[in-house]
Amino acid sequence: MRPDVPARNPERDRASRDFPPEADLAPFGTLSSEGAPPAEAVARFRTLVREYYRRCGRSFPWRETTDPYRILVSELMLQQTQTQRVLPKYLSFVQRYPGFAELAAAPLRDVLALWQGLGYNRRAKALVESAAIVMERFGGRLPADPKLLVELPGVGPYSAAAVCAFAFGLPLPLIETNVRRVFLHFFFVGREGVRDREILPLVQATVDRDDPRSWYYGLMDFGVMLKGRVANPNARSAHYVRQPRFENSNRQIRGRLLAYLTAHERATLVDLGRELPYAAERIALSLSALAAEGLVACEAAEYRLPERSTPRLYQKRRTHYNGVPGFRKDRANQSKGTDMTRDEYIRLEGTYGTNNYKPFDVVVARAKGAWVWDTDGNRYLDCVSAYGAVNHGHSHPKIHKIFIEQAEKVSIISRAFRNDQAGPFYKELCDLTGSRRVLLMNSGAEAVETALKAVRKWGYIRKKIPEGKAEVIVCADNFHGRTIAVVGFSTVEKYKAGFGPFPDGFKVIPFGDIKALKEAITPNTVAFLAEPIQGEGGVNVPPDGYLQEARKLCTAHNVCLVLDEIQTGLGRTGKLLAEEHWGVKADVTIIGKSLGGGYVPVSAVLARGDVLDVFQPGEHGSTFGGNPLACAVGRIALKVLVEENLAANAEKMGALLTREILAMGSPLVAGIRGMGMMLGIELTPEAPPADELCGRLIAEGLLCNTVGPRVVRFTPPLVLDDEEAGWALERLAKVFKG
Ligand SMILES: Cc1ncc(COP(=O)(O)O)c(C=O)c1O
Repeated sequence: MRPDVPARNPERDRASRDFPPEADLAPFGTLSSEGAPPAEAVARFRTLVREYYRRCGRSFPWRETTDPYRILVSELMLQQTQTQRVLPKYLSFVQRYPGFAELAAAPLRDVLALWQGLGYNRRAKALVESAAIVMERFGGRLPADPKLLVELPGVGPYSAAAVCAFAFGLPLPLIETNVRRVFLHFFFVGREGVRDREILPLVQATVDRDDPRSWYYGLMDFGVMLKGRVANPNARSAHYVRQPRFENSNRQIRGRLLAYLTAHERATLVDLGRELPYAAERIALSLSALAAEGLVACEAAEYRLPERSTPRLYQKRRTHYNGVPGFRKDRANQSKGTDMTRDEYIRLEGTYGTNNYKPFDVVVARAKGAWVWDTDGNRYLDCVSAYGAVNHGHSHPKIHKIFIEQAEKVSIISRAFRNDQAGPFYKELCDLTGSRRVLLMNSGAEAVETALKAVRKWGYIRKKIPEGKAEVIVCADNFHGRTIAVVGFSTVEKYKAGFGPFPDGFKVIPFGDIKALKEAITPNTVAFLAEPIQGEGGVNVPPDGYLQEARKLCTAHNVCLVLDEIQTGLGRTGKLLAEEHWGVKADVTIIGKSLGGGYVPVSAVLARGDVLDVFQPGEHGSTFGGNPLACAVGRIALKVLVEENLAANAEKMGALLTREILAMGSPLVAGIRGMGMMLGIELTPEAPPADELCGRLIAEGLLCNTVGPRVVRFTPPLVLDDEEAGWALERLAKVFKG
């Protein structure tokens, strides 16, 4: 045993319960983003941690060795796993495989068998592969170089730094959960969303360069002690990921599958389905993920543990260690807090999903307010907001509360019966928008279809249009959804090619052209359908006076003005409804997206009484339309929208963002389109393609996407505050000004 590691003794344990005294746990304060801590605080901090380690430090077998092999084994075992669970496994592991040579030669199935009970089995495979690489490339000696260490499977920047500190005594900066807790507690009081890259300079400044090993052991032990004495500071870390429930998780299924195959040599899908208490599809999915990772082999419909391990390239990701001396820029760890790696999620989507979207490769695992986090714990500002579906921000606390409460009462009930949320929701919607009747649907496209059915029937009944002759006028570059009727009158070839034949009865005119509208109206025209500002068509604002003139024409010819406010509505453009910008009242207004408060799909057709009165029982409906969960969430979504003045905030922040982006004077920006926070950054001809720019923005932490080839959509949640806007502008400037 090394003399600097105190041995366990019960008396010391008792003493440590009250050490350090409460007064010594008082934080040192909050650092400004660039600020260094005062030298006096650093000195006190060091003394405190050292003293704690001297009196209360824990002792583990891996702290009693400097053998790089043993340190590496312990570090991989300790990833996401408690010391008490690692202890017995570590001892039997190093006994069975005392060095790199023995481990490299071991059949993978034996190593996996020994690993059983530790979980995260891919670490076992990574260890075997690392051992093989160390034997082949480094002659059996682990290099004391973090750049080479992070090349090894399963070794991320943290593990590399830990091996360097514990085996080779190198004072590299090192952050893990207990270390992070200590720094957050003492130096980041009251700060939320602290990134590790903010903590790293402190770690570097405080490390004991003469004895990094004991220093970090002490820090870790101090962090463990803090956990029991203060409210978890790690909840304030930007990288904080609550461990997902293990019970019934994919992780549990994977563990059970490997345990079964360890005990049974081989098994078919039928055997596994019979023996394990999970649905067959979940078992099949987990098996294919395990097979993709090389943790199970499949031959002639039988699964078994693989004899050999075939090293696969580990995709490394961007981390806070980028730029820290000793680490290469593109080094990365494996997924944290989720069951699979980012690439595995992407691969599963590619294998089993349908190719109807081309998403950027950010795999989102959680979101809050204006922020989202990916499976690797990277944080981004959401600048798409699900096209307006999360105007309230992600998981707004008031909406969340009602969502849970209503889910506990009743979520879905047949429309053959009534529910206690629908009536109040109808009334609140009508009161807020000055409408007479409401018809609830789920998606936007369904609501558009509903409006089209309503105006057609209205035309036949009220205008006595001959059966089958009703006409609806629509605009070029429209986007109203993806159903057959709706794509039938799209002017984007890709949306309709191969999906015909389409229904008749639609006339397309240019958007913003009042003369064209006048000429298109006939005695058979029942409606003019338009978006007040075209969203997917490229964020196109109509010329001044256009909607007022359209309103006059519709009134004069007894034509329904139908405004699709699915994207523009509910605050997005700076008004409750965009039509208010021009003092226009539509006959039929369609809303959706943010009506669901970021929680549920709910859409609504709001109309004059005579339009929706045409429906008789049985003529139209939807199983989920008007369900109590959607109604309850819709009600609170409207309430929050009004109470928190989200429309006014959209107007204010939109003006600020527009002004500041234009003030950058970027040669790539031709202008800003839109109103409120429905913004599109229009690119100059010399700018790279919009999706390439989006890739760069995403790398900076701004989740953006494109609206057509020359416009970058910029539509953050309406709860965006000044600080978040400032953060976004800094990143935008980096990309647009270079
Ligand atoms: C103006 C407009 N109408 C209709 C839709 C279709 O909505 P959903 O995707 O919910 O069917 C969209 C979606 O982007 C939209 O922007």
